[in-house]
Amino acid sequence: MEFTNQSKCICSLALVLMLAAWSSEATSRSLQDALAYGRYEQWIARYGRVYNDINEKEERFKIFKDNEAFVESSNKDGNKLYKLSLNQFADLTNEEFTASRNGFKGHECSTKTTTFKYENSTVPATMDWRKKGAVTPVKDQGQCGSCWAFSAVGAMEGITQLTTGKLISLSEQELVDCDVKGVDQGCAGGLMDDAFQFVIQNHGINTEANYPYTAVDGTCNAKAEAGHAATITGHEDVPANSEIALLKAVANQPISVAIDASGYDFQLYSSGVFTGTCGTELDHGVTAVGYGVSADGTKYWLVKNSWGAQWGEEGYIRMQRDVAAPGGLCGIAMEASYPTA
Ligand SMILES: *[C@@H]1O[C@H](CO)[C@@H](O)[C@H](O)[C@H]1NC(C)=O
Repeated sequence: MEFTNQSKCICSLALVLMLAAWSSEATSRSLQDALAYGRYEQWIARYGRVYNDINEKEERFKIFKDNEAFVESSNKDGNKLYKLSLNQFADLTNEEFTASRNGFKGHECSTKTTTFKYENSTVPATMDWRKKGAVTPVKDQGQCGSCWAFSAVGAMEGITQLTTGKLISLSEQELVDCDVKGVDQGCAGGLMDDAFQFVIQNHGINTEANYPYTAVDGTCNAKAEAGHAATITGHEDVPANSEIALLKAVANQPISVAIDASGYDFQLYSSGVFTGTCGTELDHGVTAVGYGVSADGTKYWLVKNSWGAQWGEEGYIRMQRDVAAPGGLCGIAMEASYPTA
């Protein structure tokens, strides 16, 4: 009996000490705040976050709390087919997030018409290019607006595997450093079509291993640039604003797509078929690597992102397919394109 009392006493003393420790970091936290701070500390440990000083840590805590409230209220909505989570971007405002990651430079208005070789393709009910060995593991662009390079490389890795039978991880950094004479500007953004054009003119692109990713703008390594692990012969645009055309394209190879990834829902997406809030201001480049229908009958696009394997469904997002808007959800059918080989 005495022992029980004593252990209770120790426990409550520990709690008091814990609360005292929290409140010494910032004066007079409420209990609720202290609990939130505990969750924040756990999140920091999980994602290995390091802050410069206590001020920055406090500043990020406020944002974390806002994001936590957003995630909770969104996940409570039983009508939503997707879940959000406090992922690695949970201490960033949406403004900071989009400024540091997205980097697709949308065309004013793409009017050029190219041939569409998949016009008359028949399409299987589902497709997952990962299962066919045409997709490399998910990569991480870091704090660099090089999504356009990752999107283009994803499509080039796909067509290379389909034509040669070899899955080779190709170099985004070569595009970031060397493809700088046109509109592409490394970490400041670019276009997938211009990346394809660069690879055609350069007669190929090197491997990830020979020209590794650094997530910063660098000087072009001419020697590595001259090494060609894969090459493409051309590129075509998928007819704009048609999810049917996009379906025919994705049925045949992984496709570069531009999307509006600017919302909080996209930033904090965790799992499920994403249906929600986004516009059509294309600001992010990704690779569509398949399509299917979820257990509840919702049609989706299978999209490979470049925010690491911790984000979303092991680095992927399933985005709702066949929506009312001709441009598709988040504009996915507005500026799709692919390399030919
Ligand atoms: C698709 O079929 C139509 C009608 O047969 C034909 O005129 C067109 O050239 C075909 N398109 C392609 C890309 O093969």
